[in-house]
Amino acid sequence: MMQERNRATAVRGLEGVLAGETRVGHVDGANGKLYYAGYDIHDLAKHCCFEECVFLLWNDRLPTRKELEDFRAELIPQMTLPGPLLQWFKRVPRGVHPMVMLRSAVSDLALYDEETEDNSVEANRRKAIRLVARVSAVIAAFHRIYNKKPLLEPDVKKGIAFNFLRMFNGLDPTPEEEEAMELMYVLHAEHEFNASTFAARVTASTLADMYAAVTAAIGALKGPLHGGANQRVMEMLQGIESPDEVDAYIDGLFDRGQRIMGFGHREYKVEDPRARHLRKYAEDLCRKDPACSYYEISRRIEQKVKKAKGIYPNVDFYSATVQHALGIPVEYYTTIFAASRIAGWTAHIMEQHADNRLMRPRSLFVGKLGRKLVPLDRRKAPAAAKKAKAR
Ligand code: ACO
Repeated sequence: MMQERNRATAVRGLEGVLAGETRVGHVDGANGKLYYAGYDIHDLAKHCCFEECVFLLWNDRLPTRKELEDFRAELIPQMTLPGPLLQWFKRVPRGVHPMVMLRSAVSDLALYDEETEDNSVEANRRKAIRLVARVSAVIAAFHRIYNKKPLLEPDVKKGIAFNFLRMFNGLDPTPEEEEAMELMYVLHAEHEFNASTFAARVTASTLADMYAAVTAAIGALKGPLHGGANQRVMEMLQGIESPDEVDAYIDGLFDRGQRIMGFGHREYKVEDPRARHLRKYAEDLCRKDPACSYYEISRRIEQKVKKAKGIYPNVDFYSATVQHALGIPVEYYTTIFAASRIAGWTAHIMEQHADNRLMRPRSLFVGKLGRKLVPLDRRKAPAAAKKAKAR
């Protein structure tokens, strides 16, 4: 036993560990490539809408036009939420983070789904449809109710991105806004075994239901080292008044040993391919608003951090400015990530259930074995025990 312990080493953060097989997504970090079911993200961003990507991730092939229309017709009506959930939104305490609300709301949705306990292929697909539609709808409806504004029904002729903006802002988006939101949804939909997807797959591997697995994923996404970074990026941008202040601001963060939010990645050692698209949209959207200096500030940060640390922006860096330009309040940024990533999470949960083996790794025990147990009435606090020994 002792010999086995001495030889073994644990892989910190599971870096480089191949924890399972998947056909859903693939990251080629060395070459800055991302694939959804084998298709390059640049091609998908150029040619496909979010619903095509969802269909692809679930079916391992792109839909025909007719299939896409039928898929939308199934999806969009599900954006109408159960009444008790809308009532619950009214009781959510003021100041609660929207990701906490979303995590609880998805767990709550399980209460109103008669198929929650059914993990069959057919029931899982129906639940996945409901979840893709309802995560966006929950964010929008909560925002409206929280701000005491009336709710809007989805427009069944349109897709999720359009309807999210319509139901969140209370009016139909312009074609430019719709295009930017569509891109946000496409780019965030899937990223193989990232922390939140892995959390979903671990939960699904116990044969827990899809809502349980998605709730776990939302919990993992919230952290600032993962999806929560986009909110921190905007908070950083808001703390910098002009591009001229960037160098001093970033030097200050380096001096204090702090991380620059929206930079670095476990897998990408060159630029995250999603950042290219978001940078362009951030630039276009900011150019239309003379008061918006976030793009210029972001460019300066990018140059500074690249030169100082050799690290590149990840998906969260420019998505912050795009979301700002779309009028989304900063505390909602990570929920928008979730509204898209639900596509990948559900695809992975279904893939896990289709060929399941419980995920149960080992840990390397680094404590003392064989410790002598002192009965409760003779046990001393560590400081007292030390003093008694010294006397
Ligand atoms: N700012 C400053 N230095 C950084 C950053 C950063 N954002 N990211 C990595 N580094 C440095 C580390 O200090 C370390 O330097 P060292 O070798 O001199 O100690 C080196 O780069 C490697 O960093 P690790 O922590 O080993 O990288 P890891 O793979 O564990 O972390 C992570 C990846 C968590 C994403 C990290 O880059 C980070 O904290 N980034 C900021 C938060 C962020 O943007 N998260 C979103 C990631 S994308 C997503 O999840 C959607």
